[in-house]
Amino acid sequence: MREWNPRTAPSAEIESLLDTLNAVLAADLPDDPLWQIDSLREYLAETMPGERRISWVAEAGSGPSTHILGHLNVLILGDIGVVELLVHPNGRRQGLARTLLHTAARRARQEGISSLGVEVVGGTPAVGFYEKLGFAREYVETRSVLSLAAVDWFALAAMARNISAGYHVEFWPGGPPDDLLEAYAKAKAEVRDDGDLDLRPSSSDPQRLRESLACLHRRGMKPYIVLALHERTGEVAGLTEVVVPAQHPTRADQYDTIVGRDHRGYGIDRAIKARMLLELRSAEPKLSEVQTWNAQANASMVRVNTELGFQADREWGDYGINVAELAHRLDADG
Ligand SMILES: CC(C)(COP(=O)(O)OP(=O)(O)OC[C@H]1O[C@@H](n2cnc3c(N)ncnc32)[C@H](O)[C@@H]1OP(=O)(O)O)[C@@H](O)C(=O)NCCC(=O)NCCS
Repeated sequence: MREWNPRTAPSAEIESLLDTLNAVLAADLPDDPLWQIDSLREYLAETMPGERRISWVAEAGSGPSTHILGHLNVLILGDIGVVELLVHPNGRRQGLARTLLHTAARRARQEGISSLGVEVVGGTPAVGFYEKLGFAREYVETRSVLSLAAVDWFALAAMARNISAGYHVEFWPGGPPDDLLEAYAKAKAEVRDDGDLDLRPSSSDPQRLRESLACLHRRGMKPYIVLALHERTGEVAGLTEVVVPAQHPTRADQYDTIVGRDHRGYGIDRAIKARMLLELRSAEPKLSEVQTWNAQANASMVRVNTELGFQADREWGDYGINVAELAHRLDADG
């Protein structure tokens, strides 16, 4: 096992990691699309200013047959570390993940990180692994997937038009334009108070938002934005963000959807999401699915997603643990 830098790693190692990632997907999430090599190095290496990612790999074989069996990276956000860890199905239950995590926990302790978080996919071996180590589930969402082949495009076009007077809807491939950035960030800041513990990045001040969009582009992830403008005030009343990653361009990720408190009840959520799907259909001809994550408690958003044709897939948990506690537990186990 060794520390690993994806920015400078030989291409053969990036390819080996891709093979392992795809073997993990085939075993644990067989309905998910496999990943492609496109921008994978950048996906692994690029971070936001002020953030760092530390990676390790566990290898098997020797000489030219060396391949990556396990991979762990910790994204450091202030004093929190977000872990991503995977082990090839052929190398499981041999203590590889535990060893990788032990190394990461020691380093995290040295770096003054107080807690580690991780996204755990329901119904996979990761649940047993993290629970055994004392991680606690802090937040849970449901992932839902929409198959574009099942969409009623005629009904969707009607939904996109059905928005109260006084608002208009705009589509911005690549991100919001500079003159809307402040109003856009303000709309995002409003929901920061809603207690969402999501580990996925979200940016609610204009400079941070600009950096976040640039980082997405560097990582090969293309953002698409639809927003509803309140004509009288110029406020961004609602927004929805979808990202099409170069690594799996057939399945897009829904990021934030937000409707400002003063603008709820005017059909904005439905209209902006419907417009987004209509635009994606022509902008991304390879796209066949969109996936989204929602808290079960968010009943109104879940209802709109169901109307659009999203089908619940599985639970997705945010787990966390105190670093000192984890390091102590792993030290004690040897
Ligand atoms: C979770 C994961 C990292 C575990 O890797 P691993 O190398 O098999 O784990 P370890 O051998 O270090 O296991 C350590 C302990 O965790 C627990 N554990 C691991 N897998 C488990 C399972 N399937 N069920 C219950 N407990 C489990 C056991 O207590 C195990 O100790 P034991 O084998 O002595 O009983 C691996 O299954 C994996 O890569 N999952 C996919 C994670 C992922 O990225 N998912 C997202 C894309 S699908």
